[in-house]
Amino acid sequence: MTHEKTRIYKTGGQVTVSGTMLTQLSACSSDDDNVRPLNKLYDLDDLGYQGAAPFVHGIASGDPLHGRVILWTRITNDGSIEVSSIPVAYTIATDPTLKNIVAQGREKASTASDFTVKVDPKNLQPNATCYYGFEALGYLSPIDRTRTIPHPDLPASEVDRVRLAVVSCSNYGFGYFNGYANIAKQIDISAVIHLGDYIYEYREGFYRDNDLREERPLFPKNEIISLDDYRRRYACYRTDIDLQECHRQHPFIAVWDDHEIADNSWKDGARFHNDSKGSYLERKMSAVRAYHEWMPIRDDSSNELDSQLRIYRRFEFGKLFDLNMLDTRIFGREKLDAAASNEPERQLLGLEQENWLYLKMLEGKRRQATWQILGQQVILAPFKGASATNSGDIWNGYASARTRLLDFIEENAIDNTVVLTGDYHASFAFDVCQNPFDANSYNPETGKGSIAVEFVCPALTSLAFPESGAGVEENPHQKFNNQTDHGYMLLDINEQAFQCEWYYTETLKKRDDRCRYAKGLVTQASSNHLVEGGQSRPITRTAALASKDSSIAMKKSAALSAG
Ligand SMILES: [Fe+2]
Repeated sequence: MTHEKTRIYKTGGQVTVSGTMLTQLSACSSDDDNVRPLNKLYDLDDLGYQGAAPFVHGIASGDPLHGRVILWTRITNDGSIEVSSIPVAYTIATDPTLKNIVAQGREKASTASDFTVKVDPKNLQPNATCYYGFEALGYLSPIDRTRTIPHPDLPASEVDRVRLAVVSCSNYGFGYFNGYANIAKQIDISAVIHLGDYIYEYREGFYRDNDLREERPLFPKNEIISLDDYRRRYACYRTDIDLQECHRQHPFIAVWDDHEIADNSWKDGARFHNDSKGSYLERKMSAVRAYHEWMPIRDDSSNELDSQLRIYRRFEFGKLFDLNMLDTRIFGREKLDAAASNEPERQLLGLEQENWLYLKMLEGKRRQATWQILGQQVILAPFKGASATNSGDIWNGYASARTRLLDFIEENAIDNTVVLTGDYHASFAFDVCQNPFDANSYNPETGKGSIAVEFVCPALTSLAFPESGAGVEENPHQKFNNQTDHGYMLLDINEQAFQCEWYYTETLKKRDDRCRYAKGLVTQASSNHLVEGGQSRPITRTAALASKDSSIAMKKSAALSAG
């Protein structure tokens, strides 16, 4: 056991932690002095807080690596004290009572970050379930569960199976977050991948989301434009009990789509943004800042001017798969212009991100990772469908960028690319090839000519289509088409096969955590082609996390006397 001092100082308004975190114990160490571990946190400053429990927005984790994971919380001061920074302590352990401590330390929540706090404890065991909690203002938070990922060098055969949930388009006003509630119950998944539209920027009622206005009032009511607006909208979403439970059970790996900024945004503008709403650049950077504050995402440490914009990043799950999370919205995307889609330099990812992706995919091939997953927003496969082709808001509208990507995959013989797509509010699946409409270059029965596969996830709650038209008959490479249901995708991945399953909620109009299995499609390793699959079995080795105490947090003094 070592104890080292942490210096906390301010640079340019940011709180920085220098040196090693306060306490580092060896992983899995046991503590047999019969004292509740949280008792041993460094004494926090007594600020005289007399208010209600400060963990109103829950606690969360994200961006798991093999030895690290981001832990997040926000401290709500109900006005009983006037301070610009609040000390916060955290503990991460290998057991749900936080007895076998791996790391603990202290941070500050400050006005500069809307009183959100992120820590990135190290020295965790790879591929392991961990538990964590926070303490602030005399309260202990609920205890959450998280999970690290396998070491990058672990052979695929030894990773066994990995299951992931995939979600997108979670509009608060449209309905109860029943999909999140169901995912929270899937105790064997390693992480939740959120492909964007975690929040929506619209004013209340604008997006035909009127049915639940009384039960799920939106804050702020206006279209969000300022930094404070974006912060308050995240705060509103994070009060949702089912979203909190999903964060409590699983780490998230998230990227933004357009609505975290504004509808149909690109790097220099957005569909409904005009001068009356002020500077787009200012709005975009406010949205980006609030995203980094409120999401459990690991911040880019490069200190470059646009580092907050650079959220594309990669996770190596042993040698089973590489997960490349991409931003097809605001880092490099040019304005929608269907007439320009074939211009050779057309950018969707932007040159820097596109080159990064190619380098990473080559690296994946070199290190012999079985699967290359691309987590992104808009439909990659060439696609004919009224709403898709009219808007061009898919890779169709950036056809030369798609040609470059598919050429790259083909020329470098990168097998087993699996594309995950959000944004479209529909469930689709595709074999991916340059020209699926030409019988000489693609055979839908055998998959000959296909070089990748793509799974498109339904909206968790956002507006779906009235019917399942525009699909398979025009698109021979399309293997699944459901445009009416809401829910999520479940991935079940091993060295031999990559399966995707669609699960749908029963209703959005009241809380109901049931979901029904609807469809399973699988691609066998090296086939780059989708065929029918079944429903996969859960992994049974994972321990459940007990249900949350009904209170949002408890007074530390009460916890200690109970201990
Ligand atoms: Fe959406």
